[in-house]
Amino acid sequence: MRHRSHKIWDILAQPRHHDFPVRAPVRPRYLLGCGRYRCSYLQLVPPENTHEKFMRAALAEAKKGLGRTSPNPAVGAVLVKGNRIIARGYHRQAGGDHAEVDCLRKLAGPVPPGAILYVTLEPCSTRGRTAPCANYIIERSVRSIVIGTIDPNPQHRGRAVELLRAGGVDVTTGTLEEECARLNEGFNKWFVTGEPFVIAKCGMSLDAHLTRPPGESRWLTSESSRAHAQKLRAVVDAIIVGAETIRRDNPYLTVRSGPRRVQPLRVILTRSGRLPQTAKVFCDSNRDRTLIYRNKTLRSVLRDLGRRKVTSVLIEGGGDVLSQAFDQRLVDKVQIYIAPIFTGGNVLAFGGKGAPSTEGSMRLESPLYQRIGEDICVTGYPKPSS
Ligand SMILES: NC(=O)c1ccc[n+]([C@@H]2O[C@H](COP(=O)([O-])OP(=O)(O)OC[C@H]3O[C@@H](n4cnc5c(N)ncnc54)[C@H](OP(=O)(O)O)[C@@H]3O)[C@@H](O)[C@H]2O)c1
Ligand SMILES: [Zn+2]
Repeated sequence: MRHRSHKIWDILAQPRHHDFPVRAPVRPRYLLGCGRYRCSYLQLVPPENTHEKFMRAALAEAKKGLGRTSPNPAVGAVLVKGNRIIARGYHRQAGGDHAEVDCLRKLAGPVPPGAILYVTLEPCSTRGRTAPCANYIIERSVRSIVIGTIDPNPQHRGRAVELLRAGGVDVTTGTLEEECARLNEGFNKWFVTGEPFVIAKCGMSLDAHLTRPPGESRWLTSESSRAHAQKLRAVVDAIIVGAETIRRDNPYLTVRSGPRRVQPLRVILTRSGRLPQTAKVFCDSNRDRTLIYRNKTLRSVLRDLGRRKVTSVLIEGGGDVLSQAFDQRLVDKVQIYIAPIFTGGNVLAFGGKGAPSTEGSMRLESPLYQRIGEDICVTGYPKPSS
């Protein structure tokens, strides 16, 4: 058991430690006995799983801003010294401090040598409403940064990484890249295409119908499923429904739980213009957040919403609008709640023209099935059509 007392040899003998990231200008030098960074000449670059652990903490910070930062992305950051988080920050709203600045400002004194900044998105490199974060990071003497995902803006992609490296900062990219990118899926699509990210959501029966006959309770799914679905509203900029849903259900279409935020826009589509003036969406305290589009194609509505800086929309029904979204391949994500009930009837969740062939159908990539009470929630992303 003699070797057990010489931990460094154990460490070096383990193949995974030979995979420590080696990055210029700071090359790893292994610290005897423990994973701390006490001596500058004996430095240990943490293994990737440590990076992931702290990036997860930065992601948790970013999530606090989800749904409130639009048209900016949600971003989080943590500052780590000696395997301990010493400051946290996130972007709260457009115009406010960016996550890195929020995090570094929380620190009472200067950034200690050897501290690593973890940030979910590449810092900005140009002046927007605030000064570029890349410069601020260099000014605050951060010497090491780990970035989740690179800026989706083709004009800015990788610029901060270059700036930081030129400023003597050791930069690691791509830690939990997919999770960090997914967090801002709405923003990423809108930024690149100018059109909002479209989520199709509904609660339906096992035979794919949306509703019971008039006069009966309109809910097919359970209360837990509906509470689950409510959370989706909290992360989008707009909710779209057809006029028939307003006439039949008279919904509020608001976010009623979670941290306070500007309510999503409520977008009503109509051809006839026949909408009850007493409907809640026209009379409640958020009535200035209701938009009516008359005689517009769904595509043109989405384009117009994109111009209004709406980065993500939730199509909540009814069947007519959902069908158009599927037929025209406008859906980026689906979240469907299926209740164990057969209703029949004439309001199909996705009727429309239908796919031209089985091969031409919209198939989901790695769908996620969650059981919520007696219901099933299916979430997934349509595979890109060939
Ligand atoms: N289970 C669920 O999750 C869920 C969710 C939502 C709704 N629902 C149910 O679904 C039923 C309503 O569904 P539905 O399929 O009958 O109707 P719908 O999709 O809610 O509304 C259809 C109406 O929307 C307007 N419209 C649709 N596309 C348009 C476009 N491209 N441009 C302009 N206007 C457009 C037209 O209004 P005009 O007639 O005014 O021209 C059309 O008649 C309700 O019973 C509701 O309870 C269920
Ligand atoms: Zn910034």
